Amino acid sequence: MAKGVGFFCFVFRQHERCSVLEANPQENTGRRSRKLVTMDLRTRYLGLDLAHPFMPGASPLDDLDMVLRLEDAGAAAIVMHSLFQEDIEQHGAATDAYVERLLRIKRRVRVPVIASLNGTTAAGWLRYARIIERGGADALELNFYHVATDPTEDGRTVERRLVDIVAVLKESVAIPLAVKLSPFYSALPHLAGELDRIGADGLVLFNRFYQADIDPVHREPVPTLHYSDSSELLMRLRWIAILAGRVRGSLALTGGAHTLLDAVKAVLAGADVVQMVSAIMSRGPAALTDVITGFGRWADEQHYGSLSEMRGAASLARCRNPLDYERANYLQVLRGARNTLSIAGH
Ligand SMILES: Cc1cc2nc3c(=O)[nH]c(=O)nc-3n(C[C@H](O)[C@H](O)[C@H](O)COP(=O)(O)O)c2cc1C
Repeated sequence: MAKGVGFFCFVFRQHERCSVLEANPQENTGRRSRKLVTMDLRTRYLGLDLAHPFMPGASPLDDLDMVLRLEDAGAAAIVMHSLFQEDIEQHGAATDAYVERLLRIKRRVRVPVIASLNGTTAAGWLRYARIIERGGADALELNFYHVATDPTEDGRTVERRLVDIVAVLKESVAIPLAVKLSPFYSALPHLAGELDRIGADGLVLFNRFYQADIDPVHREPVPTLHYSDSSELLMRLRWIAILAGRVRGSLALTGGAHTLLDAVKAVLAGADVVQMVSAIMSRGPAALTDVITGFGRWADEQHYGSLSEMRGAASLARCRNPLDYERANYLQVLRGARNTLSIAGH
C-alpha cells in the first residue's frame, strides 16, 4: 500500500468485490481515488451472496438506527434478535411488532436480513417460522436453547426432537434455515450430520448460555449477563475446525470474536461467516469495521490468494497433525504444565 495514505474508507456492496479504498488527502478534490488493495472476500452463506464473512449476531443491535449504522460500518448481513414463543404467548402483539421491525429493516438496507426464532413447541416453531418468512426475511436462524434438566430424558430424545422440528420446518418453509446450537451435545459431529442430511442450510456455533448465579442469602438463581471475551473463541474454533469440510451446509461462528485475529482464526478453522455481538455492544460498529478492513490486508500480507484458500486451512481435515484436535493437544498441555508450572507453597 502506498506510503502517505492518510486514511481508509471502504465500500461494501452485495455482488461487488469487497475492497479497501485508499483516499489520498493531497488530492482533496472531494472525490476519492480508488485502488483495490485486498483480496476478494465475497462469500456464500446459507445460499446468500455476501460481500464478506463478517456480520453482527442475533441481539438487540437491530433497532433501525443501529442497523443503518451497522450497514454503514460494512456489515455483510443483519441478524435480528430472536422472536421468543414465550413473548408471543405473554404479549399477543409480539409477532406483529417483530414482523413490522423486519419490514422496516428490509425496506432500508441492501444487505440480506436474517431473522431469528426461538420456539418452545413444534406447532409454535412452524407457525412463527411461516409468519417470519411471509414478512420477507432472507433466511431464518433457529435458536435452539434447551437446558436438559429432566433425568428421564436421554440425549438421543433431545436430539431427535431438535432434528424433527428442523425437518418439519425444512418441508414447510422455503427460506434458508440455520440452526443455532449450544455446545452441550455429546456427539456433535453426528448431530451436525443428521441436520445436514435433512437439509439444514447451516449451523451457528455456539449459543452462549447465560449461566445463572446464586444469591447466597435468598438461595435463588440470579440471572447474569456479561459480555464475552476472546477466550470464549477457543471452544468455537475447535468445533468449527472439526466440522469444516464434513457438512455440506454453511458454518457460522458466534462467540468470542472480538479482534481481527479472532476473525482470521475463525475463517482458518473453517467458518463461512463470523458473527460479532459483545464486541459491537462494547465498542460500537467500529469493532466490525476494524475486522472487515483489517482482514483482507492480513490475508494479503500472508500471501493468501483467495478466501476459499484460507477457509478451513487449519481445520481437522486439513491440519498437519489431526490428532491435535483430539487427545494430543490435551496431553501435551498437561505434560508441559507438570514440568513448567510452579505451584504456590512448593
Ligand atoms: C444482550 C444480548 C442479547 C442476545 N440476544 C440473542 C437473541 O435474541 N437470539 C440469539 O440467538 N442470540 C442472542 N444473543 C447471543 C448472541 O447472538 C451471540 O451468540 C453471543 O453473544 C456470543 O457472541 P459474542 O461473543 O460475539 O457476544 C444475545 C447476546 C447478547 C449479549
